Amino acid sequence: MCMSTSMGLKDIASRKGIAVGCCINDAHLNEGKYRSALVRNFNLATPEYELMHSQLCPTRGKYDFENADKVVAFALKHKMRIRGHPLVWQSRLNIPSWLARQKLSRSEAAKLLKDHIMTVMKRYKNEIHDWVVVNEAMNDDFKSGKFKLRKGFWFNRIGPRYVEMAFRLAHIVDPKATLWYNDYSMDEINGKSDAVYRLIKGLLKKGAPIHAIGLQMHLASHWNLDPKSVEANIRRFQKLGLKVGITEMDVRIRKPVTKKKLKKQAKMYSGMLRVALNTRCEDFSLWGVTDAVSWIPESHKGYDAGLILDKKYRPKLAYENLVEALNE
Ligand code: G3I
Repeated sequence: MCMSTSMGLKDIASRKGIAVGCCINDAHLNEGKYRSALVRNFNLATPEYELMHSQLCPTRGKYDFENADKVVAFALKHKMRIRGHPLVWQSRLNIPSWLARQKLSRSEAAKLLKDHIMTVMKRYKNEIHDWVVVNEAMNDDFKSGKFKLRKGFWFNRIGPRYVEMAFRLAHIVDPKATLWYNDYSMDEINGKSDAVYRLIKGLLKKGAPIHAIGLQMHLASHWNLDPKSVEANIRRFQKLGLKVGITEMDVRIRKPVTKKKLKKQAKMYSGMLRVALNTRCEDFSLWGVTDAVSWIPESHKGYDAGLILDKKYRPKLAYENLVEALNE
């Protein structure tokens, strides 16, 4: 099969000093087209779900790293940096059911938090040097405008301090790792990004080892993000001494998918890439590469086509616009 000699995103991006990333789903690594689309375009990998607590530890005391190891091995083989994700996330999809049922004292919960972080980070100490330590700790109550730490498994048992505790534990396990806070709907300056800014600023003041902020950037093509506001948001976190990355971008389209909506999607992808380039973000990462493998249709009924290659792995206008923005 002749491989097209044209460069992929990562080659063009490397000239601009930005990593281009993608989540990797181990269940599709046996598909040639999926593998080559990843290898050709990306030099940073995030396991899509294989490092979730519920996937690693479906039964108490027994860790199964098989699927995560597959993603890590693939990434290493193709010289991709890896962002481990997520160590601590209160989503009910992430907390193992056996754990969710546990009545735990604060110290028992703190011990379980420590055990999990140490078990996972130690296994990949030589392979993973970036970790999303806490994912989506801030609520998204845009209706009330009152943004505070989400209640949830760890918050309810340990209290708000679980966030700082997680970062301090991760830093003890691997003092050299870059430790990320990652969240969604905090791309522009808004109530949620303000609340995260206050939280992180406060934690940094207490000496918490937080090094980077991940803006997930899960968008819809009918939204209108203001690039200036995203840029200002990125810069204010950088002013705290933090690295910033775009960690999970996709732009879902409300069906029917039309040429007009694909054009808008392409504009949004390249607009956010330009923001990432202007602000020297660590990386510009997508939450998938092909519409054939995407969380969107399952999780957002009535939406589809959120990524940069179509279901047949053909480059969409979004892909072409990213290449254009990188060649500017
Ligand atoms: O494939 C396994 C299957 O073998 C197993 O039998 C089954 C039951 O355990 O699980 C299957 O895995 C599912 C996996 O997606 C398949 O890709 C998990 O149940 C399911 O929970 C998992 O969902 C992931 C979701 O996070 C978990 O909340 C999605 O893939 C993933 O795209 C999504 O990604 C999140 C980021 O982590 C955080 N930001 C938002 C983003 C989208 O929700």
